[in-house]
Amino acid sequence: MSVILEVRDVAKYFGGVKALDGVSLTVPERGLIGLIGPNGSGKTTLFNVITGFYVPDRGSVLFRESNDLVRIDGLNPNEVFKKGIVRTFQIPRLFNSLTVLENLLVTPLGQKGENPVRALFRNSWSKQERELASKAIELLKTFNMLHYVNSKISELSAAHIKMLETIRGLMTPAKLYLLDEPAAGVDYAMARELFTYVRKLRDEHNLTFFIIEHRLEILMEYVDYVYVLHNGKLLSEGKPQEVISDPKVIEAYIGV
Ligand SMILES: Nc1ncnc2c1ncn2[C@@H]1O[C@H](COP(=O)(O)OP(=O)(O)O)[C@@H](O)[C@H]1O
Ligand SMILES: [Mg+2]
Repeated sequence: MSVILEVRDVAKYFGGVKALDGVSLTVPERGLIGLIGPNGSGKTTLFNVITGFYVPDRGSVLFRESNDLVRIDGLNPNEVFKKGIVRTFQIPRLFNSLTVLENLLVTPLGQKGENPVRALFRNSWSKQERELASKAIELLKTFNMLHYVNSKISELSAAHIKMLETIRGLMTPAKLYLLDEPAAGVDYAMARELFTYVRKLRDEHNLTFFIIEHRLEILMEYVDYVYVLHNGKLLSEGKPQEVISDPKVIEAYIGV
């Protein structure tokens, strides 16, 4: 199995806080990989480094481009997105004044409708918009949210806002999806539906997922492999069963 993403000895400091302190890991193509660790262990910071929101203080990030792994650290978020990496945010970033459907149709960066010259050719643009709308409807149906299609974000529960953030990520074509706590605040049944859907996307479309999740009981049921961060360092890694029975991991979570 070839590697799609490689993080090499990445460090990121905020003043005296070592948010990441020499992290190395790989994500295989078609992997469904978990990233766990206690609060403040550096998980979101790692996603921010991978996606170009932060420049690492040390180390590098490489992403597969046909037969080569090429460095992507130093690229800005838009450039990383264009390479084929989509991420969702732990704190949803939606447009509160727009409806659910409008949020899902906001043209993702780099798509056809954005180009003003192409936008003049109404036909191709509206075909793409129609396709996006039907994809959005299908996803809302899958997650039992179709009745909210014309609701404003402010009318949704926190759980539905979180789901919508993830759905918006999944709407966007990419090779690698980084999901930051997709099950946070979402009820158990819906969270399982989300992970089942992610696994189906992986199996049927050869996509890769790297998922931060605090809800270990759900995550562990679905992922192939897990990395554990603690105080900005890799504490443990392995198959779900190996990781949850690792005394170091138990200790870090219980905090003794
Ligand atoms: N922009 C920032 N400025 C200052 N400190 C930060 C910033 N982002 C994260 N940190 C700190 O880095 C550490 C790791 O944070 P984070 O990556 O958000 O953890 P996690 O996602 O695992 O909960 C924490 O101590 C946090 O307070
Ligand atoms: Mg976080």
